[in-house]
Amino acid sequence: MMRAVILVNAYIRAPAMLRQAERIAAELHLRGVRADIVKNGDFPCAVAGEISLGDRPDFVVDLDKDKYLPRMLEKCGVRLFNRAQAVEVCDDKMLTCIALAGGGVRQPDTVPAPLCYYADAAVREEFLQEVGRRLGFPLVVKKSFGSWGEGVRLARDAQELAAAAEEYKLLPHLYQKRVGKAGEDLRVLVVGGRAVACMRRKNEGDFRSNVERGGRGEAAHPAPAFLQAAERCASLLGLDYCGVDLLDEGGEPYVCEVNSNAMFNEAERVTGVNVAGAYAEHMLRELRA
Ligand SMILES: Nc1ncnc2c1ncn2[C@@H]1O[C@H](COP(=O)(O)OP(=O)(O)O)[C@@H](O)[C@H]1O
Ligand SMILES: [Mg+2]
Repeated sequence: MMRAVILVNAYIRAPAMLRQAERIAAELHLRGVRADIVKNGDFPCAVAGEISLGDRPDFVVDLDKDKYLPRMLEKCGVRLFNRAQAVEVCDDKMLTCIALAGGGVRQPDTVPAPLCYYADAAVREEFLQEVGRRLGFPLVVKKSFGSWGEGVRLARDAQELAAAAEEYKLLPHLYQKRVGKAGEDLRVLVVGGRAVACMRRKNEGDFRSNVERGGRGEAAHPAPAFLQAAERCASLLGLDYCGVDLLDEGGEPYVCEVNSNAMFNEAERVTGVNVAGAYAEHMLRELRA
């Protein structure tokens, strides 16, 4: 019997995350695979000259964003879903943006903040002026690392821009043109290169449509260009599974971000699509190939 490890964060708290792991385990089990849910930190793997690996699984489903263990596992020849590099690039919104650039998908104009080492440094005014001039107000300020809408804010004028820049200056972050309808986006789940489920998320109370911020999901059937854009992102980034956030500006899809570790509970609920099953099928197809 094939054995899979479903790797979750060592400090997992969100019940939704555990449910996600359990859904994938159940769908793998239905297909004759034993799947154990293991916390990072409990998986026996260490570097001692060479990398030593305990009981070698046939493959690993990585639901965490930790960088080190996935790299070690891959170095031992274990196939990871998603692959380590794809997760690393996706975790960093600016690196994602750079990776997608020139790849045939639209993205809002984006400017990275320069790295700052000093808490007492004043954010350079010329830089912020240029950001405001280039992107126009309101604009979006985002931490490069963040999810669930935390670390994403709107700057309505130069003052708010300066305040956000000051608050984020010691963290990797970026400035982005605001596009689409406030509080509304499309979440497309892509498995094995195919868009399998899509929901529109709407939030009346916030420009961020995240479910964790009060956004509501409903099944959506957007124009093919939207599904194609999401599929293109997955292919450019080499992702087996992802959730792509798309903004609709004048009927055209703009990529907001790509989530290698997208939660599918809400999408499964509102669309009725068996996303975990599709993912399990994809993994077994890949391993057979
Ligand atoms: N450039 C933008 N223009 C308009 N809305 C945006 C923009 N960037 C983010 N948003 C809104 O904020 C939400 C969260 O931003 P996102 O980049 O997806 O970060 P997170 O990883 O926290 O979900 C998006 O789903 C969208 O509703
Ligand atoms: Mg998002």
